[in-house]
Amino acid sequence: MAKIIAGVGSSHVPAIGAALDNGKTEEPYWKRVFSGFEKSKEWMARTRPDVAIVVYNDHASAFSVDVIPTFALGCAAEFPPADEGWGPRPVPVVKGHPELAAHIAQSVILDEFDLTIVNKMEVDHGLTVPLNLLFGPPRDAWPCPVIPLAVNVVMFPPPTGHRCYMLGKAIRKAVESYPEDLNVVIFGTGGLSHQISGPRAGLINSKWDKAFLDNLSKDPKKLTRIPHVEYMREAGAEGIEMVMWLIMRGALDDKVEEVYRFYTVPASNTAVGHIILENRRTGAAHKRSAAGKARAAAALRKVARRITTGRAR
Ligand SMILES: [Fe+2]
Repeated sequence: MAKIIAGVGSSHVPAIGAALDNGKTEEPYWKRVFSGFEKSKEWMARTRPDVAIVVYNDHASAFSVDVIPTFALGCAAEFPPADEGWGPRPVPVVKGHPELAAHIAQSVILDEFDLTIVNKMEVDHGLTVPLNLLFGPPRDAWPCPVIPLAVNVVMFPPPTGHRCYMLGKAIRKAVESYPEDLNVVIFGTGGLSHQISGPRAGLINSKWDKAFLDNLSKDPKKLTRIPHVEYMREAGAEGIEMVMWLIMRGALDDKVEEVYRFYTVPASNTAVGHIILENRRTGAAHKRSAAGKARAAAALRKVARRITTGRAR
C-alpha cells in the first residue's frame, strides 16, 4: 500500500530559481535564503520518497487566462520546464507517475472533488523551485517521479482553504488505496506574504506568516476558517497562494511532528517560509529499508522505459 509519509511547505519565489540558474547562491543576499534549506536537503536525502506530489500554481505558463482550472492534476509521463519569458529553466524534464496520478484522479473525482485531468502540461517555477530547494541541483534527472497538482490562485475565486484541506484528505485516501508499496511526500508551495503590484506592493507580514506556520503545525483546522479577504488583507494579494499549503496539511495526520522550519525576509519582495512535517506513524522515512530504495529505483526505471517507448501510460 502507498502512504504519505511527510509534507513539505515551501515558497516558490521565481527569483530563487534565477539565483540558482545564474550562479548567485553564494552571494550574501541569496546565501541567507539557501542556507535555510541545507538541513532540508539532508532530510530529503535520508527520506528518499518514491513519489512527490507537488501542489503549486501555474503562473500563466501552462494555462493562459483562456482556461484556468481550479484543480488540475498532471497525469502525463513527463512535464517539460516552461518558457517563462527568458527561456525554460535549465533543469531536467520532470518525470511523472501516470499510474498513481490516474488512480488519484479516479479516487478523488469519485469522492466528488472535480479535478481537471491534464495529460500534457509544462511546469514553471512554482513547481521547479521547490524541487531545487529540497532536492538540490539535479544532474540529469530529478530523483523521483513527481505528480503536479496545479491550483488556481491567480484569478478570483480561488478555492477556499477548507476546500483545499478536504482535498488533501481525499488525496491521502487515494494514495492509501493504491496497491503498490510507495512512500509519498506531498509539497504545498507558494507564499508566504507578498504583494507584487499596487499601492501595497512589497507588503510582508512576518507576524501573520509565523502564526500561519504555528497553526499549520498544531491547529490546521483553525486555518481552514480563514476567508480569502483575510489572506488578501494580512498577507497581500499574492499571499492567497498559502491556501495551497492546506492541501498538503490535509493529507497528513491530525497530529504531526514538525521536524524543521525556516523563515526569512525578503527574497525578491516575498517572505520565504518553509516547514517539514512528518506523519508520526509513518514518518521515520530515514529508516526506510533497502527494499524500499530498490522499489524507488525500479519506479524511476519504469517511467524512463515508458517514455522511451512512447507509451502514454
Ligand atoms: Fe506563485
